[in-house]
Amino acid sequence: MKDKILTIFGGSGFIASELVYKLSENFKEVRVLSRNIEECKHVKVLKNVDVFLYDASNISSYTKYLKDTDVVINTVGILNESSKSTFEDVHFNFVKNLVNKSRENNVEKFVHLSALNADQKGPSLYLQSKGKADEYISSNNDGKFKTVVFRPSIVFGEKDSFFNRFNNLLKYIPIFPLACPESMFSPIYVKDLSSFVEESILTDKYDNQSNDITGPKNYSFKELIKYILSITKTKCMVIPLNYTLSYLQAFAFTYIVPGKIFTIDNFKSLQIDNISTTGLKGKTTIEEIVPSYLSKKNNKLDIYRKDAGR
Ligand SMILES: NC(=O)c1ccc[n+]([C@@H]2O[C@H](COP(=O)([O-])OP(=O)(O)OC[C@H]3O[C@@H](n4cnc5c(N)ncnc54)[C@H](OP(=O)(O)O)[C@@H]3O)[C@@H](O)[C@H]2O)c1
Repeated sequence: MKDKILTIFGGSGFIASELVYKLSENFKEVRVLSRNIEECKHVKVLKNVDVFLYDASNISSYTKYLKDTDVVINTVGILNESSKSTFEDVHFNFVKNLVNKSRENNVEKFVHLSALNADQKGPSLYLQSKGKADEYISSNNDGKFKTVVFRPSIVFGEKDSFFNRFNNLLKYIPIFPLACPESMFSPIYVKDLSSFVEESILTDKYDNQSNDITGPKNYSFKELIKYILSITKTKCMVIPLNYTLSYLQAFAFTYIVPGKIFTIDNFKSLQIDNISTTGLKGKTTIEEIVPSYLSKKNNKLDIYRKDAGR
């Protein structure tokens, strides 16, 4: 690999950043493609890494970077649609174009970050669009164009969105009405995920495969929220909501309250457990990692509050 080129899409993201750090030393050159090059400064410090601006909806803005690329990784994804970005465009149309252009440019391996339960017939638009892309990728692989799809449950690590987002929310509210409290998750540590991605690039072990990828333990949504409260010593009353109230909360957050904290599409995704009995398993538990960054962040805030006389 030392004479090869890696091009990675969605460069400013949580998983992409981890992958660039992990993989850069295996390659001669790493091209990080992003819509926000300012957000990719942290990876630019690596000597063989360059960051390039592109537009996912404009094929010619990225085709030139695929020339002489050996491995492509796609980490582009959204959790919610906006007026500018639909699941169909971001999760399917972009992937379809990227696969086609990668093949045309003789890319050897295409690694794609999908999601657990992705399925064209899945309950939510998020899962359907991810599933449609997975199908398209798999239908295009052959001995020359190898593909590897990873389908993770929640991914955790210092910059994750799950634990950090809920920690930030719980700090400021005394009562938390929790939708879909019994939905199950199997969080995978971002460094474990990155090791599997690295192995899939350095070996042929996962060629032309689609792999569920989860952590060593399963937790309900309620258990994860209570875990955050316990390690940060935050006082907040969690009120588990039943199916109807969960749906009503999602309805309110979709159509009335701004910010898309929890949409109807998110609610639909949570109707299937985010766990897997088969597939790849990381070894690292949340208990080994999450306290190191959540309690640190809360302590920092405590210091600010103390300084401010609160
Ligand atoms: N984190 C998890 O728990 C988790 C779980 C299951 C699946 N996944 C999947 O894994 C992939 C990476 O996740 P992540 O946690 O690293 O997500 P992330 O931090 O949000 O990164 C995704 C990246 O996609 C790009 N992007 C976002 N909206 C876009 C749009 N409208 N058009 C084009 N590019 C856009 C952005 O990169 P630039 O701004 O740099 O262009 C963004 O940084 C995603 O496909 C996600 O669905 C993640």
